[in-house]
Amino acid sequence: MKYFIGNWKMFGVPKSVSILNKINSYYSKDKNRNKYRVIITPPYTLIESYSKYFKNKKISIGAQNCYQKEQFSSNTAAISPFMLRSVGAKYTLIGHSDNRFEGDTDLMLKDKVKYALNNNLKVVFCIGENKTEKNNKKTLSVLKRQLTKVLEKKFNKNNIIVAYEPIWSIGTGKIPTVNELKKTTIYIKKILKQIYKKNSPGVLYGGSVDGSNVEMFKEIREIDGFLIGGASKTSKKFIDIIRNYYR
Ligand code: PGA
Repeated sequence: MKYFIGNWKMFGVPKSVSILNKINSYYSKDKNRNKYRVIITPPYTLIESYSKYFKNKKISIGAQNCYQKEQFSSNTAAISPFMLRSVGAKYTLIGHSDNRFEGDTDLMLKDKVKYALNNNLKVVFCIGENKTEKNNKKTLSVLKRQLTKVLEKKFNKNNIIVAYEPIWSIGTGKIPTVNELKKTTIYIKKILKQIYKKNSPGVLYGGSVDGSNVEMFKEIREIDGFLIGGASKTSKKFIDIIRNYYR
């Protein structure tokens, strides 16, 4: 199963649902529809209405983050996994580099993953190196640390997906080479196998994916799908990614 996940970040109002309607109708009719899933993570403000709207449709709705407490607490503006689940979210991103920049630590991320899984959310756990780490050839050791500090053996691996997003690639138009990305993805899978043995979580790529470069990723069998930011905000760009991937 492949995944096409659209991360809207700080984008969208109620009427932006029309974008998802177009994606949903393409997805419903696509002859390849059984080969992949489409998940959109709108801002918190839209989760309840979009989840209701797409309840019996193909697209699934997720959150972009969650707070590291399970249910209710006195943390102003925080949203827990329990609250997300109660308004219909099925997935949540955790560990996006934007949130790591804002202070999410490995310890906080571990709690987020734990509580999200406890509340039946599927977790898309984001990892990735920055430019300096890449230039200093630290990519693999950074990824290993990010994975092993957070993902525990006892977590339900069937509800975890890993998204590899090199920070230097997010929103920049720069993407890794096929060789680089293949090597990195195989390495991530090797680490996941050490934690989870058989049937370890799938690994997605994210960072400047669009309709014109997605074909390049086809050759990398190990990639289980994509986390898409900028190109998920218009139906045409998002559909082009799916269409060109299966062309
Ligand atoms: P991008 O964002 O596709 O705009 O590079 C990806 C992400 O941050 O998830």
